[in-house]
Amino acid sequence: MSAAAPDTSLPNGSGALSVVIENGIAVATLDVAGASVNTLGAAVMSDFAALFDRVERDTTIRAVVLMSGKTENFIAGADIEEFVALGSAQDGEALSRTGQSLLRRLETLRAPVVVAIHGACLGGGLEAALASAYRIVTDHPKSVLALPEVQLGIIPGAGGTQRLPRLVGLRAALDMILTGRNVRSKKALQMGLVDEMVHPAILRDVALDRARQLADGTIPRRQRRASRSAASVVLESNPLGRALVFRQARAGALAKTHGNYPAPLAAIDAVKAGFDLGSDRGYAEESRLFGDMAMTDVSRQLVFLFFATSALKKDPGTPVPIAPRPVRKLGILGAGFMGSGIAAVAAMQGTVVRLKDADPARVAKGLKAVSDVLRERLTKKQVTHRQFEDQMVLVGGTTDYSGFSDVDLVIEAVFEDRALKERVLQEAERVIPSDAIYASNTSTIPIARIAASSMRPEQVLGMHFFSPVQKMPLLEVIMTPRTSGVATATAVAYGKQLGKHVIVVSDGPGFYTTRTLAAFMNEAGYLLDEGVAIDVLDRALVEFGFPVGPITLMDEVGLDVGAKVGAVLRESFGARLAPSQALARVVASGRQGRKGGSGFYRYDAPGGRKGGVDESVYALLPTGVHRTEIPVLELQQRCVLAMVNEAARCLEEGVLHSARDGDVGAVFGIGFPPFRGGPFRYVDAVGIAHIVRQLEVYHGRFAPRFEPARLLVERAAQGRRFY
Ligand code: NAI
Repeated sequence: MSAAAPDTSLPNGSGALSVVIENGIAVATLDVAGASVNTLGAAVMSDFAALFDRVERDTTIRAVVLMSGKTENFIAGADIEEFVALGSAQDGEALSRTGQSLLRRLETLRAPVVVAIHGACLGGGLEAALASAYRIVTDHPKSVLALPEVQLGIIPGAGGTQRLPRLVGLRAALDMILTGRNVRSKKALQMGLVDEMVHPAILRDVALDRARQLADGTIPRRQRRASRSAASVVLESNPLGRALVFRQARAGALAKTHGNYPAPLAAIDAVKAGFDLGSDRGYAEESRLFGDMAMTDVSRQLVFLFFATSALKKDPGTPVPIAPRPVRKLGILGAGFMGSGIAAVAAMQGTVVRLKDADPARVAKGLKAVSDVLRERLTKKQVTHRQFEDQMVLVGGTTDYSGFSDVDLVIEAVFEDRALKERVLQEAERVIPSDAIYASNTSTIPIARIAASSMRPEQVLGMHFFSPVQKMPLLEVIMTPRTSGVATATAVAYGKQLGKHVIVVSDGPGFYTTRTLAAFMNEAGYLLDEGVAIDVLDRALVEFGFPVGPITLMDEVGLDVGAKVGAVLRESFGARLAPSQALARVVASGRQGRKGGSGFYRYDAPGGRKGGVDESVYALLPTGVHRTEIPVLELQQRCVLAMVNEAARCLEEGVLHSARDGDVGAVFGIGFPPFRGGPFRYVDAVGIAHIVRQLEVYHGRFAPRFEPARLLVERAAQGRRFY
C-alpha cells in the first residue's frame, strides 16, 4: 500500500523545505521561493533543523531522501548576502559552527539520509551531501560538484575540510578545495565523491530504493571510501607522506598566489589540523579560520566581483530593457586568430557560422583553428564525439559572401586597418539582410569612424572579444551615439549566450579596456627607457597580482600590434599616451614578440616556449646595457596608477557607464588582480585622496603623464568614494 502523505507542516518553516512521507521514507524537497537556485540561508537552516527534530520524534520515518525542487540546481551554496553581513570574525566562526552542528545532526540522524543530486551541488550543498549516508548524482552535464569557497576568499566552513579528505583522499580533496573547480558526475563517481550515478528520470526512484535498503541494513550505513591508487594510499596513510603532500600543496598555493590570497593556505591548515590533531580540533580550526577569512579584504573584493558579475547577467545593457533579436546565424569576417576563436565559441552555443577570409588557404587555416578549439573540449571529455561533430558541422567557410544573405549578426575580425575595415563593411552590407547587426572586433579604432562608411550606422557597434576567445570571460560592447538600442541589446544578449561577462561602453579610441591597458603598458615602456631590467619589472607587477608582467604581455600581444595601438592613442590623447622609445626601437628592429619568435624574451626553446630575457634586446634600448635600479614599489605604483588614472578618465568622460563595469572589465579583460577588486575598488581601498597625492608626485616628475583625472580630484575634495 502506498502511503504518500503530503506534509509541509514543519514548525517555524520558511516553506522552502516540503516533505512527503512515502512508506516510511521522508522525501524532503528544497525549493527556495523566488530564487532560481537554492541557497542555504538562516531560514533554510532552521527548516532543516525542524526536519531533523521531526525525524527524531517520528519513529515511523525510517530514512530520508533529500532532493531539490529546482529544475537544474541542487544547492548553490551558502546565502552570500547573509555571509557578507557578518560583522566580525567571531560572527563568522559562530556561523560556521552552526553549519557544522547542523550537518553533524544530519550525519548522526537516527534515520539515514540519501541525497539525490541533480544540477550544481556547491559549497554548503556539497558539505551536506558529504555528511549524508548515500550520494546519488544524475549523469546530466549540469550536475557538478565543487567546494568553490576559496574563489570567494573563504574556506569551506561546514565540515568540508574535514569530511572531503576522509572520503576521497587527501590529494584529491586538496585539489578540489584549493581550486574550487567543478567535478562532473562521472569523475565524481570515479573518485568516490558520490556512490552512484543515474539518469535524471530515475533519480527519485533510485533514491527511494537506496533509502529503504539503508533503513533495512542491506546497504551498510558507513561512509564508503573511494578506491584509490596504491601509491596514494601509501603516501597519505602515514604522517611523513602526508607531511609531504601538505608541503607540496602549500608551495603550490604560494607559487600560484604570490601570497596574495590567504584562503588556500588557511584551507590547508584546516585540513591538516584534522589529520594532525584529530577531527574535533579540525572542525574547530575550520570554524576559526572561516571566521578569519570572512573578514579579509580579499574576500570582500572577491565577493564584490561575484555580485557585480551576477548583476551584469541581469543587465540588458540598455537604459530600458529592449527585446534582443535572436542570433541563429553569424557571419564572421576574417578567419584569423580572433575570427576562428569567435566562430568556435559560437558553434559551442549552437549558432550557425559562416567564416569568410580572403583566400581558400586562410579559410582552411581558420577552420582548422576552430576544429582545434572544439577538439580540445573533446580531448578533455567535456563533450561527446557526437557533440563535437554537431558543432563542427555548424561552421562553414567561404571566400566570397556566400551564405551571408540570411545572417542575423556579422562580427568583423580582419586586420586592424581602418581602410580595410571600412571596405569589408561596405562589401558585407551589400549582401547581408537590411536588419542584420554589424559588429567590429577592433581593439582600438573608434567604432563611429568605421560606422561612418555604413549605410545603416544605427546597426553598427563594437563587440570586442579578448584572446584566447574561448578562455577569456569578458566581452566589451561598444555603442556609438547612433547605435540603436536593439543592436546593443542583441550584442549584449548574444555575448551572454556565449558565456561572457558583458560590459557596455561608449565609443572612443581604445574604448575602455585597450585604453587603460595601453596606459599601463606604456608606463612599463617608459620604465624600460629609464633602464629598468625587463624581468625585474615583470616580476614586480606579477607580485602585485597581475597574471603576467607588462613586458611579457607586450610580447604576447605582438609588438607590432602594440605599436599600432600606441599610434592610435597618441593621435587621440597626445603626449600623455605617447609610446615609449623602448617599444618604438624594438619594433623598428623587426622584433614582433612571441609570434615572430623574437621579442623582449627568448622563444628559441622547443615548441617556441618562452625562455629568459633576450639580453641582446638591451642594446636597442635608450640606456643600452646599463640597467638602473628603481624600487619595486615605484615600479608597481607607476604602472598601476597610470592604469587607474586612465580608468577614472574613462568614467569621467562617460566611456564607462559605471565604476562596476570598469572593475569587472579590468579584472576579466585585462588581468587586474581580482583580490583588489578592480581599479575603482583599489582606489577606494587605498583612499582617493592618497591616490591623488601619489599621482601629483609622479606628475611633478613626469608631466604630462600622471595628471590626476578631474573625477579623482573632485571626489577626493568631496571625500566621496566610488562605492
Ligand atoms: P589575424 O591577423 O589573425 O586575422 C585577421 C584575418 O583577417 C586574416 O586571416 C586575414 O586574412 C583576414 N582578412 C584580411 N582581409 C580580409 C578580407 N578582405 N576579408 C576577409 N578576411 C580578411 O588578426 P587577429 O589577431 O585575429 O585580429 C583581428 C581583429 O581583432 C583586429 O581588428 C584586432 O585588433 C582585433 N583583436 C585582436 C585581439 C588579439 O589579441 N589578437 C584581441 C581583440 C581584438
